[in-house]
Amino acid sequence: MSYVRQGKRVAIRPIDRGDCAELVVLNRESADLHARWMPGPPIVDREAFDAYLRRFEEGPHVGLLVCDSRTGRIVGRVNVNDIVRGSKQTATLGYAAYVSTTGRGYMTEGLGLVVEHAFGELGLHRLEANIQPGNTRSVNLVRRVGFRKEGYSPDFQFVDGAWRDHERWAITVEMVQSPAATRSPAQPR
Ligand SMILES: CC(C)(COP(=O)(O)OP(=O)(O)OC[C@H]1O[C@@H](n2cnc3c(N)ncnc32)[C@H](O)[C@@H]1OP(=O)(O)O)[C@@H](O)C(=O)NCCC(=O)NCCS
Repeated sequence: MSYVRQGKRVAIRPIDRGDCAELVVLNRESADLHARWMPGPPIVDREAFDAYLRRFEEGPHVGLLVCDSRTGRIVGRVNVNDIVRGSKQTATLGYAAYVSTTGRGYMTEGLGLVVEHAFGELGLHRLEANIQPGNTRSVNLVRRVGFRKEGYSPDFQFVDGAWRDHERWAITVEMVQSPAATRSPAQPR
């Protein structure tokens, strides 16, 4: 596997065409977990997976998977969405675990690796996470990884059939002391 970062228990790598079957099973089992919090159509068949993959091939987005480094199995996903270059060097994160993988600390480690990768190889300076106020597990996750709450936007995003308020969380290079960020400080390019 071509991992871009490895931690103690998980590693991250780009999503690949060969991940369809495994991801479809995980997403089907997790439909109830995801429905209330995740925007966009669920990836529950080959057609949805292909459309999902096209987003990364055609748009300014990077799709990463969090994998169990021992078995290689997928335990979560993190998308680095809407990358803006120039003077901003920013992106918005989307992420999810699955019913069979949540509540084990995999996402805390995985999201930490994504932050290192984004501030290192991807050359970003800022990452945002927009979270509905009731999504306690997501708030707990970004807080553990070091994000800070910047504000609150009413009717921010269309999720589960309605425009939902979101808390605005973010992390910048200055807030982390990772070796990657120190080695490769983000510069406008
Ligand atoms: C948000 C989401 C990704 C958080 O995932 P998570 O499983 O809570 O995060 P982690 O994998 O880091 O697990 C952390 C939990 O595992 C527990 N845990 C158990 N064993 C652990 C271990 N060995 N090491 C670390 N943590 C462990 C932690 O105590 C923590 O539980 P707590 O929050 O109740 O204290 C997940 O709830 C999800 O997919 N939700 C639906 C989609 C969603 O909301 N996406 C975000 C939209 S903004």
